[in-house]
Amino acid sequence: MPFICRWGIISTGGIASEFSKARLWTDSRSRNVDDVVHRVTAVGSRSVEKARQFIDTSLGGDKAIKAYGNYTQVYKDADVDVIYVATPHTYHYENSLDAIKAKKHVLCEKPVTSNCAELKSLLNAAKENGVFFMEAMWTRFQPLSLEFKKISDGGELGLPISVHADLSGNFNIYNIPRTHRILDPNLGGGALLDLGPYPLVWAIMALYENPANGATDPTITGSILKTPITGVDCNTSFTLNFKQSNLAAQAVLSCSINTNALNPGVTVRYEKGTIEVASPIYAPKSFAVRYLDEHGVIVKEEKRLFEYVGRGMHFQADEVARCIRDDKKESTLWGHAKSLLEMHIFDEVRKQGGYELPLGVEKVV
Ligand SMILES: NC(=O)c1ccc[n+]([C@@H]2O[C@H](COP(=O)([O-])OP(=O)(O)OC[C@H]3O[C@@H](n4cnc5c(N)ncnc54)[C@H](OP(=O)(O)O)[C@@H]3O)[C@@H](O)[C@H]2O)c1
Repeated sequence: MPFICRWGIISTGGIASEFSKARLWTDSRSRNVDDVVHRVTAVGSRSVEKARQFIDTSLGGDKAIKAYGNYTQVYKDADVDVIYVATPHTYHYENSLDAIKAKKHVLCEKPVTSNCAELKSLLNAAKENGVFFMEAMWTRFQPLSLEFKKISDGGELGLPISVHADLSGNFNIYNIPRTHRILDPNLGGGALLDLGPYPLVWAIMALYENPANGATDPTITGSILKTPITGVDCNTSFTLNFKQSNLAAQAVLSCSINTNALNPGVTVRYEKGTIEVASPIYAPKSFAVRYLDEHGVIVKEEKRLFEYVGRGMHFQADEVARCIRDDKKESTLWGHAKSLLEMHIFDEVRKQGGYELPLGVEKVV
């Protein structure tokens, strides 16, 4: 019998809707998964009308799903195993903590918290309460990423030398309200916390996870250009140096909220070739591998294309279900250490770039 994973969804915004429409809730066998099945059993919103409307529009109007006008009742619901936290960044800490204290497993949207101190506190709470906790780094679980890893770590291209990765988005910042979460410092606005996780995940996959790095943290240099509109970071770049006895590699990463993403969005250069990943880098559908001779001439070229039903958010949900079924407290592919590294890097880049969140926004400092 497949393991049935019962989800409670917290909030009814853009990504909660994407997640809910991600074909998770149809028969898993329709996408060749027969060991886990997902069910949404409750939706919580700050307004019960919004929760009901969300169930109608994003979950097919399923009358079995309970609609709550707050988040607390979802945490308390005995028919919920795992909470999907999809509120703005600066609420992830308190929402996840409340869920954990109610002994619920948690999948929390990226960036997992506002800073590293909040994440450490959450991980302690998850340990104390014996629950699974994961940041929703969906890119790491997609079939393309799994294939990228095989080639990247496989050795035929030699060791990695550099990663260039960018995720930007034109948010039309001069014409949206200052209270939009991308512009509002009270909601952790700006490019780094919102878009930065994606260039970073490619550096983590290609360099941090490379066997030659031995999961050693990089050194960090960051630069921030703020928008005068609200003072959040508008254009941010950061470099990570990975230096081991047999690996010297650099990641050059960037994100902006006032321009479109580069395509290809990721280029990894190796001793004997390159991998270029097509945009969007959070859910790419193709990459190109080029094998080069010692003069840089292409000797072999391969293009990999990936097709699947939906946008690709269900792969992370399957991982969550399997971890809960197997009584694991963290994922092997996107475990706590990687989220901690991410938040440590973002803290450092914000510090070097002089971007402080307003007093009181960070709940643990
Ligand atoms: N994985 C991805 O590809 C991806 C993509 C986009 C966003 N995200 C992440 O998901 C999170 C939410 O982003 P989003 O684009 O879905 O945001 P959104 O559309 O603004 O939705 C956020 C929801 O959070 C709830 N909320 C609770 N307190 C709030 C407050 N003070 N202000 C505004 N909303 C509040 C609201 O739902 P209720 O009123 O129903 O409670 C709101 O609809 C962010 O952390 C973001 O980084 C991830």
